[in-house]
Formats: sequence, C-alpha cells, structure tokens
Amino acid sequence: MKKTSLFKVSIATFSVVLFMSFTSTVQAKNDPTQEEIAITEAVKIYPLNSAEHMNSAEKQANALTYKNMQEAFKGETTASAKYAAYSKKAEEEGYHEIALMFKATSTSESIHANNHKVVLQAGSQTVPTVTPEFTVKSTLENLKDALAGETYEITTMYPEFIDNSVAAGNQSATISLTYALKTEKKHKALYENAIAALENNKVNKSVASVYFVCPVCGNTYANATPENCEISGTPSVLFKKIETLQ
Ligand SMILES: [Fe+2]
Ligand SMILES: [Fe+2]
Repeated sequence: MKKTSLFKVSIATFSVVLFMSFTSTVQAKNDPTQEEIAITEAVKIYPLNSAEHMNSAEKQANALTYKNMQEAFKGETTASAKYAAYSKKAEEEGYHEIALMFKATSTSESIHANNHKVVLQAGSQTVPTVTPEFTVKSTLENLKDALAGETYEITTMYPEFIDNSVAAGNQSATISLTYALKTEKKHKALYENAIAALENNKVNKSVASVYFVCPVCGNTYANATPENCEISGTPSVLFKKIETLQ
C-alpha cells in the first residue's frame, strides 16, 4: 500500500474511533443505569415490577431488599443524630474543626436517611420510627466509634445490601445504597485523618474548617470541591457549605 493510502486509512480509522467514542459518551450520559440522578427522580424512572409479575425468588429478594432499606434507614438516622451530638462535644472540648467535620457528616447521613426513605415510600413500605441510641464519650473515643461504624458499613453492610438489591432488580434501592457506600468511604478517611491529628495535637493545622455536602448523594468534601460531585455528578454550586456551627 502506498504511503498516501495508508494515511487515508489511518484518518478513516481515527474518525470512526472518534465517532464511536463520541456516541458512547452520549449514550453513557443518557444511560438510565448511571448513578447521576436524584433518588426522587430514580423512583419515577424505575417503576417497580408489580408483585403479580414477579416469580417467588424475585418476591423474596425484593422483601429482603426492603428489610435492608429499613435497617439502613435506621442506621443513617442514628448516625446523623450521633454525629450531631459528637459535633457538640468536640466544640465543648475545643476542637472546632472536628465539630465542623461532624456537622458535615451528620448532614450527609441525613441525606442518606432521606434517600432510603424515598425508596421505601415509593415501594409502599413502612418507614420505621427511629429513636437514636448512642453514648457520647470523649472526642477521641467518638471519632473511633464513628470510624468503626463507617468501616462496618463499607466492608459488610452496604456491600451485602447492594448484592441483595441487584438480585431483586430494585434499581432505586441500588442507587441509594451505592450513594451511601461511596460516601462512607469519604467519611472513613475524614475520621482517620482527624484521629491522627488529635493524637498528634495538630487538629487546627490538619483538620479542615470548611466542608461541602452534596445534596443528592451526601458526598462530603473538605476544603474544596470539584466542579461536579464525583459520585452523583451534581454541580458543586448546589452543595451545602458548612463553615459555622449555626
Ligand atoms: Fe451514611
Ligand atoms: Fe458516614
């Protein structure tokens, strides 16, 4: 083949690849399985299979998923109340930055709780009444308790619940659970950093004093944010900024 023909072939191949990558990007944006969606929209887009159209395995998986969603709702509601109390305690102990961090994570957990609630309501399920139970100790102990809670959710609870919701074909539940799982990983890192800072007496140097919370998925950022949430794609102008305790 002559050099000019080779060049033409390469151009043609490049154009095809470029076109394919463009169309796949467009498709990805419109793909309803993408997570870039508020739960209130997800429950409208993914209507549930009616019970008469489910086989017995699907019915069982769906019942398990709603049991999981109720448990997750209780966990997130309790975590939100607990972190608000931990925030107050940190401020009392003079750890203002940690107080702000707990306020941000408390806000985030309330978004998870609300997302789970929306999924339960869309499935005509009971939203449990929760009386949060927890003990407030020293800030260092509170941080370690928070870290243990996040670790359990990341390694055990949410992965199991997501497996179940996928098996049930409940996409709204899967999205809500995945938003929580991914956010808890951010919380875990925040707590690890705060524990190290407190133990090394560097709280006001190493712990951020401004936080941002994504209102769609609860993702929590310290100091600065990208243009769009890395979990839900929500524009950062919509984030809740937390820089005071009021
Ligand atoms: Fe959460
Ligand atoms: Fe969390």
